[in-house]
Parts: sequence; structure tokens; C-alpha cells
Amino acid sequence: MPPVALQLCPFSDFLDAGLRQRFEVVRWFELDEAARAALLSQRAASVLAVVSGGHLGVANALVEQLPRLALIAINGVGLDKVDLQFAARRGIRVVNTPGVLTDDVADLAVGLVIALLRGIASADAFVRAGAWLKGDRPLARRVTGRGFGVVGLGRIGRAIASRLAPFGHVAYTGPRRHAGVPYAYHDDIHALARAVDVLILACPANAATHHLVGASVLDALGPDGYLVNVSRGSVVDETALIGALRGGRIAGAALDVFEDEPHVPAGLRESTAVVLTPHVASATVETRRQMADILLEAMDSMLSTHGGT
Ligand code: 8YV
Repeated sequence: MPPVALQLCPFSDFLDAGLRQRFEVVRWFELDEAARAALLSQRAASVLAVVSGGHLGVANALVEQLPRLALIAINGVGLDKVDLQFAARRGIRVVNTPGVLTDDVADLAVGLVIALLRGIASADAFVRAGAWLKGDRPLARRVTGRGFGVVGLGRIGRAIASRLAPFGHVAYTGPRRHAGVPYAYHDDIHALARAVDVLILACPANAATHHLVGASVLDALGPDGYLVNVSRGSVVDETALIGALRGGRIAGAALDVFEDEPHVPAGLRESTAVVLTPHVASATVETRRQMADILLEAMDSMLSTHGGT
């Protein structure tokens, strides 16, 4: 019997095709409870790989039902939804796709900054709705000359910082100061939020960053401040964000990630001060191809040692 890969969410055509060449692919996300239970009782021992997205990861409860699982492949950089220690104890390799998506995520972050301050999405809607015939749009806000605060100066944070530096002053926060970077360091996110106009989240999701941005950080950012999130939804307390937007305690937010994707709270969807994208920071043809190549190479190496069934 061919080896089985459990696919936990939809992927690009090239990753789908590559998986199908190597495995019998079970599209787990399309199965109902009964079909999942049947699959596990009949084929659990054939499952050598689980393939998922960074936003989704894989639950330990599933992993422990797969006795021959050799590889957890994450089509993304974030490993926050995979229990790495649990996988290591069971001898399961975990592979993700760092590096290749850095530029795309940073590009989108800058795009969101500009879209947010200049009102690009609402200007587009304005023209389409024929509203231009009745008058001009309200003035937007200037991007050049702003202060930008990057939360998390890892690979992606640095790429965002270097793209924003030509626009204005860049500062950052994170668990530690980085030697040799030309940006001011604040050891406290409140101090950073007070010092800048736009706060951009590029940190990993973990216990220390869960709801890192709540009411007090938003108040430190202030009524002329903007929030941009390209990291993980869990970093922002969405209820606090909706409250701050409603009360005019911050000027606006641009969000690519949400606490309960793909569910986006009405308080965000209905706000005219918000720009929303559906977790697309790494979603380009070029990057998704490179991500697929990394995962398929890991599949090949796993199959060469673990073989078929
Ligand atoms: C992907 C991500 O959109 O890299 C990550 O951690 O969240 C994104 O690049 C996601 O994993 C979809 O597969």
C-alpha cells in the first residue's frame, strides 16, 4: 500500500501535485468526523506524513494516533501550532519553510502601512461606487517622515525595518537588543508604542507574545497611531483593538492575521479605519513554489529512509 500523507488544509496547485506524486493524499480537512474515524481505524499505520499550514499546525491528539508518522511538514515559517518537544520525543521530524517567505511578508507589511495611511482600499471603493462624481475624498495621512516601530527584529522584522527606513525613523522592541543594527531599541513595547506613529508586529506567537498588544499598548500608540499585524492574530487582543478603534483611541489598523481565522469579528469588518487581508503575506506564486520545493525535498528524504508501508 502506498504511504499516506494527511493534508490538513488547502495548498497551492504545485504542492498538491507534488504530494500526489509521492503519497496517497488524504484531504483530512474535507472529511467529516465519521470518515476521519474510519480512516484512523483502517489506515493510521500507513500515515507517514502530516502536511499543514503555519496558521493551523497539528494537534498532539492527532499525532498520537499515527504510530508511523515520520514527518510533520509545515507550509509556513511559524511553528507555534506544533508541539516540537512532543514531536521530538516521538522521533518525528518537523520541517517548515523559513527564509523563502521573508521578502513577501515584508513587502506586504509595507504595502499595508501605505494602504492604511493613504486609504488605498477605501479610495478604490470610492471610485467604484461612483462617489467621485459627487465630490472629493477626505484627506489621508502622509507616510514619509513617520516613526515606525517594529515588534520582533527577526528575519522578517529586519526585512520590514530596512524597507521602512527610507520612509522615516525606525525603532524596535523584542526580547533583546541586536548588535550592529541602526535602529533605536526599546526594551518595553509601551515605550516603543509611545515613540512611534505606526507599530508593526513581526514577532512569533508564543506565551510571551500572547495578547502582547492590548488596551495599554494601544493607548500608548495613541489617537494618531496605527497598528499593522503580519505575525499572528494571537499577538493582538482583538476585543481591546475593536474598543480602541471604536473609541478613536487609535487611528487605524491593518491586519493580515486574526485570532480565529478565517473568522474576522464584525467589529473589525465594519470599521472604516481598518484594512483587512486574508492571511496572504506569503501568498505569491514565487514564494509558494519555493515553500513547496522545501517541503517536497523533506518528503523525499523521509521516504528514502522510511519507504512505503
Ligand atoms: C502561511 C504563515 O500563509 O508562514 C507562516 O507561518 O502563517 C503563512 O506563511 C500559512 O502557513 C498557510 O499555509
